[in-house]
Amino acid sequence: MEEEFVANQERLKPQEEKSEEDRSKVDDIRGSPMSVGNLEEMIDENHAIVSSSIGPEYYVGIMSFVDKDQLEPGCAILMHNKVLSVVGLLQDDVDPMVSVMKVEKAPLESYADIGGLDAQIQEIKEAVELPLTHPELYEDIGIKPPKGVILYGEPGTGKTLLAKAVANSTSATFLRVVGSELIQKYLGDGPKLVRELFRVADDLSPSIVFIDEIDAVGTKRYDAHSGGEREIQRTMLELLNQLDGFDSRGDVKVILATNKIESLDPALLRPGRIDRKIEFPLPDIKTRRRIFQIHTSRMTLSDDVNLEEFVMTKDEFSGADIKAICTEAGLLALRERRMKVTHPDFKKAKDKVMFKKKEGVPEGLYM
Ligand SMILES: Nc1ncnc2c1ncn2[C@@H]1O[C@H](COP(=O)(O)OP(=O)(O)OP(=O)(O)O)[C@@H](O)[C@H]1O
Ligand SMILES: [Mg+2]
Repeated sequence: MEEEFVANQERLKPQEEKSEEDRSKVDDIRGSPMSVGNLEEMIDENHAIVSSSIGPEYYVGIMSFVDKDQLEPGCAILMHNKVLSVVGLLQDDVDPMVSVMKVEKAPLESYADIGGLDAQIQEIKEAVELPLTHPELYEDIGIKPPKGVILYGEPGTGKTLLAKAVANSTSATFLRVVGSELIQKYLGDGPKLVRELFRVADDLSPSIVFIDEIDAVGTKRYDAHSGGEREIQRTMLELLNQLDGFDSRGDVKVILATNKIESLDPALLRPGRIDRKIEFPLPDIKTRRRIFQIHTSRMTLSDDVNLEEFVMTKDEFSGADIKAICTEAGLLALRERRMKVTHPDFKKAKDKVMFKKKEGVPEGLYM
């Protein structure tokens, strides 16, 4: 019996050890970054040849918990970022890059939610929507429609809002990225992501590519020393390359937005690239009135509210400030469980918003 016991022990041990080993590998993987690769070929049950985006191919193990029935050559897989063993499978039809950028659900904001900015709306319609819907008009006149536009102006003046309204009204595919995502989210992949972005835009055309906060990528080219700076530059160069590359009569239009246009690389804005600049000024009195109307339209106001007082004030505020005042006033009423928002609420709200604007933001902080 003793002999049998020892023999059994011997037989079971390797298996236990193996699962122990696997488990420690799983622990290793937990929390550590993974990379995405392609499965080139299955060698046997537990081994395969994979390739990563960098180029070379590797002979690697497949972790025991991966569903091997679903693995087939050509599919996208998750790999451990150091030993490159296969740790998971990405569903074939979902291109991870695209799914992030594509705006599936139309934003709720529409042109009706924008106060004023009539000239800006018209310009973006002419430069972006019309060429997509009626390219023949431009052909008749014999000019090439612009490749895109750049929206610029003070913070909170409605740039992102207008782009959302375009997305809402257009039937074209709307792709949206934020500049900082291009260089942060996919570390080292910025240029690739830009290429991918335009490739997808071309595939799904007619389409509109919206890059918000472009100053994260498009700053002036200067001598870059750190790897990060060089990464930003390469992303930028790829962007220029893509802008030159696609034909402006094609069905891809670009919208850029920034509040620091002076820091952008002039190369980005030179004729032939994004040469239509649309400025977003701070709202004038008429526009202020309209924005107040828009943001108070769903609030219950008591009779004593006189919005004109705020419309006519000499303080400068942006559309975002007006929205903040209305929200703040609503919150004050809510705090006292009142059903109606009163004039003093608005007064307090305005003081608070103006105060925050002046004092709350430390010098040099960019919002
Ligand atoms: N003209 C406007 N009409 C109505 N609402 C506005 C207007 N301008 C701004 N707002 C309000 O301010 C909010 C912020 O505006 P938005 O996000 O478009 O600013 P932005 O110009 O993109 O600013 P930033 O440069 O800081 O990104 C909007 O969600 C909207 O509610
Ligand atoms: Mg914005």
